[in-house]
Amino acid sequence: MCGIVGYIGKASAPSVLISGLRRLEYRGYDSAGMAILEDGSIVVSKAPGKVSALNDKAHADWPAERFVKSSTGIAHTRWATHGPPTEVNAHPHLDESGDIALVHNGIIENYRSLRTRMEAKGHHFYSETDTEVLAHLIGDRYQGDLFQAVCDALSQVEGTFGIAVISAKEPGKIITARRGSPIVIGVGEGETIVASDASAIIAHTRQVIYLEDNDIAVVTADHVDIRDLHQIPVAREVSELGFDAAAAEKGGFAHFMLKEIHEQPDSLRNAIRGRLDFNLGSSVLSGMGTSQRDLAEIQRVVFVGCGTSLHAGLVGEYAIEDMADLHAEVQQAAEFRYRNPIIGSRDLVVAISQSGETADTLAAVREANQKGAFVMGLCNVVGSTIARETGRGVYLHAGPEISVASTKAFTCQVAVMLMMALKLGRGRRFSRDEGMKFARAIESIPELVQKVIERSDSIAAIAAKYANDEHAFFIGRGPLYPVALEGALKLKEISYIHAEGYHAAELKHGPIALLQEGTPVIALANDIPGKDKTLGNVEECRARGARILGIVTEGDHEAMEAMDDVIEIPACHPLVSTIPTVVALQLLAYHIANARGCEIDQPRNLAKSVTVE
Ligand code: M6R
Repeated sequence: MCGIVGYIGKASAPSVLISGLRRLEYRGYDSAGMAILEDGSIVVSKAPGKVSALNDKAHADWPAERFVKSSTGIAHTRWATHGPPTEVNAHPHLDESGDIALVHNGIIENYRSLRTRMEAKGHHFYSETDTEVLAHLIGDRYQGDLFQAVCDALSQVEGTFGIAVISAKEPGKIITARRGSPIVIGVGEGETIVASDASAIIAHTRQVIYLEDNDIAVVTADHVDIRDLHQIPVAREVSELGFDAAAAEKGGFAHFMLKEIHEQPDSLRNAIRGRLDFNLGSSVLSGMGTSQRDLAEIQRVVFVGCGTSLHAGLVGEYAIEDMADLHAEVQQAAEFRYRNPIIGSRDLVVAISQSGETADTLAAVREANQKGAFVMGLCNVVGSTIARETGRGVYLHAGPEISVASTKAFTCQVAVMLMMALKLGRGRRFSRDEGMKFARAIESIPELVQKVIERSDSIAAIAAKYANDEHAFFIGRGPLYPVALEGALKLKEISYIHAEGYHAAELKHGPIALLQEGTPVIALANDIPGKDKTLGNVEECRARGARILGIVTEGDHEAMEAMDDVIEIPACHPLVSTIPTVVALQLLAYHIANARGCEIDQPRNLAKSVTVE
């Protein structure tokens, strides 16, 4: 949530900052701003709206020379928490003297009391943000040493932060620090880039340093000095980013979401590669850090996550119970630490998170660790906080997911959970032959997904018929129930159509009252156990005038006849069918949103990676 870029080096800072912000815009896009150092003072430009508005404003207001000369600056793209997305609330914020500028991700929880204290000392505040208080606090502590002032100020704040700070009095350096909000430092040749996300760095260098919580660094064009808040030096290794600049670009697609949907055969191949063992009829998930004997001790699997990751966990729950005869459940990460979960050392808690930074999921990881559970992460972003704090887990290898609407992360999460189910099942229930059969079913996933993607044009034609509706219901059973939830989430978040997902049997316990002549019901009626019952529920909807779009198995004429429109999915294992089915729903949501002219990659009010509770 929100994006930070800081640059110090030989290139034009405003240009680097703007292009970095564009790459981070998916993390927040309601206002943007930048501050640069120029001849002993700080110059700021801010604008409500997108980064393009900031770019236009800076070019209109600033002399062209400034773009050439300035080589140090910080910038921010915001997802508003405190105060509306106005120019005045946009970052960077300045201290009382106007000599110190700060950009901040996270929340300063005690900002009210700090602000009252500062006001009593004569400070004037112009914004409603918590961040401005931190800028003033740093200025208040400043006695000729910016690093010291930032350390002192941070020791007084409660909450979370990822920050970058510059001072007109100390050109040639950026101070950056983190607690609960990521900061990555890109180490280039004669240039250093500070960012909240590696995608803002990749165009400059692949050599990066991830700050740990309570690290504070002094960054110059050719040096990075990292210390803790007591100024004791700490060693952090330089690692190499596992993707290139092209992976964070649209590559000819109209939207990142469409690109990411199309990438799924490859991302799934990457998630599966080397992890299926056909000799043993099992899977190799070495990151789980467990022996088969440890796994035998596990008595329950608990998945925690939010949003799309929570839905993936619901599929995982079916898979583990079905394949491994092991009790499995999903808990909303946001509730986990507040409900005193009954968790012990024989419980495997799996934190599912694309970004690895979601605040609620991270809090659940910490709670599960406190309770002595066996905790692992299932993350996409390498080096993310959840991946590091769990210490063990399985990376998705889906590549950067830029679109706010998660697609390839979901399918890779499910694929990895199917491989977990295979491993756990092999140790408890399966024979080698049964394991091999399921491994083959998992191996076929990329090809199944490719077949659905090839139907994108026909899905677009169907989408056109549903693009003017304002409500939609998604229904499914068994492992397709969570897919119905995910289909509804995709549609609502990018098209703004009110969409609800229900278990097919649940509709008649209330929601069916909402059906009217023509209300769309998207029925996941693939040929898996329970299909006949779903077809019965479809009839109940038709009897109330609903229009039915059925997702059915290729060639299933009985199911097709029950539907007004049909998207066909290749026949496959019931658990595996969740993946091609969700891909069809992703394409449906995409084409409906596109037909409605929505801002698909940056839906209103949303941001990628929710780092606040
Ligand atoms: O990064 P995470 O997987 O932890 O994110 C969880 C949710 O915020 C995320 O899945 C969100 O629901 C997406 N916008 C869904 O498309």
